[in-house]
Amino acid sequence: MRHFLQRLPKAELHLHIEGTLEPELMFRLAERNRITLLYADIEQVEEAYRFRHLQEFLNLYYQGMNVLCTPQDFHDLAMDYFIRARDEGVMHIDMHFDPQAHIQRGVPLASVMQGLLGAVRQAEQALDLSVGLIMAFLRDRPVAEAASLLEQARDYWPDLHAVGLDSAESGYPPGRFADVFARAGELGLARVAHAGEEGPAAYVREALDELGVERIDHGIQCMTDDTLVERLRREQTVLTVCPLSNVSLGIVDRMAAHPLPAMREAGLNVTLSSDDPAYFGGGMLSNHLACAEAFGWDATTFLSLSQSAISAGFMPEARRQTLLGRLADLAWASGK
Ligand code: ADE
Ligand code: ZN
Repeated sequence: MRHFLQRLPKAELHLHIEGTLEPELMFRLAERNRITLLYADIEQVEEAYRFRHLQEFLNLYYQGMNVLCTPQDFHDLAMDYFIRARDEGVMHIDMHFDPQAHIQRGVPLASVMQGLLGAVRQAEQALDLSVGLIMAFLRDRPVAEAASLLEQARDYWPDLHAVGLDSAESGYPPGRFADVFARAGELGLARVAHAGEEGPAAYVREALDELGVERIDHGIQCMTDDTLVERLRREQTVLTVCPLSNVSLGIVDRMAAHPLPAMREAGLNVTLSSDDPAYFGGGMLSNHLACAEAFGWDATTFLSLSQSAISAGFMPEARRQTLLGRLADLAWASGK
């Protein structure tokens, strides 16, 4: 199964590039930028990465990104992940990034964009990897700040595929960002939002109704609301589910208790992603392997999940057809 899952052409629709910062790179960038880390060594980092809930993770996530200062840092961060992801059979990534977390530390948006866009272009040319860019707003920061970021990003609108909404969820309902998302829609940008990760099912409905999102990141709490499940099934809304993330943040006790099998049985359009692989115990391959082990899913199930993700990724139609073709070739070669 490992060999099959590695070869499976995968699209990752929910990935925070800042959440790919492996401890090794964190130490390297800290040295390069003469920043003192709170950790003495990698063991201490691993010790710290035991989260009881989302906020505990977010505190370390925002702290970790202090080592990202120059365009080169953002370039290295992204290229490091792109190479690892390709080794795991990932062919497309829709990549969230969090400009507000950098701007508030004095890092200009231009530095973030120069580094990330350079890496994306290099990956597309040299790695056979396509990348969609999702500029995320931090929902626990003021709405006006998000609105101002969107305008500030004017020069990069043509490079962006979508806007997203992330960070602390409980107590921060998505509807507050309705005007910002409406503006993004007017600009022709697609819209996605984290909802129903640790927040309630009502936030999923609100993201659909008030933000006009076409995909929901996480969404697992929808399972507490039958009417919502029926709607998500009927509309085949893509849910970007991140099983190892959910277990790592204590949202789900253990893989065997994850609602993913029930979500599939309910006819929901689920896809698999890693969210923040450096923090949650592994990337796309680990997430796939964990599902195979916990749920006993077979090759046909994983082919179908990959097909859903490739069909929904922010990529040119020609690229989508290429990736679907490769998926069909693998299915044929595996007798599926
Ligand atoms: N930002 C990075 N990872 C996140 C997550 N899992 N939930 C909300 N915001 C995030
Ligand atoms: Zn996320």
